[in-house]
Amino acid sequence: MEVVKTITEVRSLVKSAREQGKTIGLVPTMGALHVGHISLIERSVRDGCFTVVSIFVNPTQFTPGEDFEKYPRSLNTDLKICKDNKVDLVFVPTAEEVYGKEMLTWVNVEKLTEPLCGKFRPGHFRGVTTICAKLFNIVIPDVAYFGQKDAQQAIVIKKMVADLNMPLEIIACPTVREPNGLAVSSRNQYLSPDERKDAACLYNALQRCEQMAKSGITHTPQLIAEMRKIIEAAPTVKQIDYIEIVDTHSLQPLEKITDKALLALAVKIGATRLIDNILIDTTS
Ligand code: PAF
Repeated sequence: MEVVKTITEVRSLVKSAREQGKTIGLVPTMGALHVGHISLIERSVRDGCFTVVSIFVNPTQFTPGEDFEKYPRSLNTDLKICKDNKVDLVFVPTAEEVYGKEMLTWVNVEKLTEPLCGKFRPGHFRGVTTICAKLFNIVIPDVAYFGQKDAQQAIVIKKMVADLNMPLEIIACPTVREPNGLAVSSRNQYLSPDERKDAACLYNALQRCEQMAKSGITHTPQLIAEMRKIIEAAPTVKQIDYIEIVDTHSLQPLEKITDKALLALAVKIGATRLIDNILIDTTS
């Protein structure tokens, strides 16, 4: 496994892998790797890719007052995880390597970035799409793997790739969950034992909603009220940013579930903002 810091080195190593006929798979990460990231790496390796993992805590996707400084950083452990999971190349750039001295060009996906997390994290998706566009231009992967846990992110990136004719496929891989249902996330490290226990309410609420929708209750205000009740009952829940039921393509709120829907929520447990979602299909 090679570990490099510069764009020139990435380009040269990827070029020789491509010359050997390999398909290039990219797993973009901000480090603090966990079983969710490992599932993406495993998928890339299983797909037979020359697997590149980028580790970069991207400053431009944090809004003022968010946790950029305290975001968990654990490079040595991350590199061991990459090695143990057969990663071929790890790209660990500095902010200057990625952004240079003055960035004047940004990638912004309209509409899809406005609802859900876009409402609460202004500029966040612009930072995500810009760094992903950069990584795609640096690595030139055939495939990039993202977690379904960040459903809006995956949808936004797919749209950017389609709109800008970027020559790669985006694969969204299933959310990995802790035994109590909590979606695995680097930010789970911030939770106290009580908060971690309470955080199970998020997936419980999503599952309850799916169950109700499948039993024929399709009016979304009623479903959202039920999810809210379950979440508010957990003692360490501090604030609900949103609980929404939206169209899986436009991300616009649905009045009624007719077939497919994305149930998505963002909730502060103690001081930690967690997101989760599930895709449901009431016809299957
Ligand atoms: O999902 C993440 O960890 C980040 O948003 C990503 C895609 C690595 C971009 O910094």
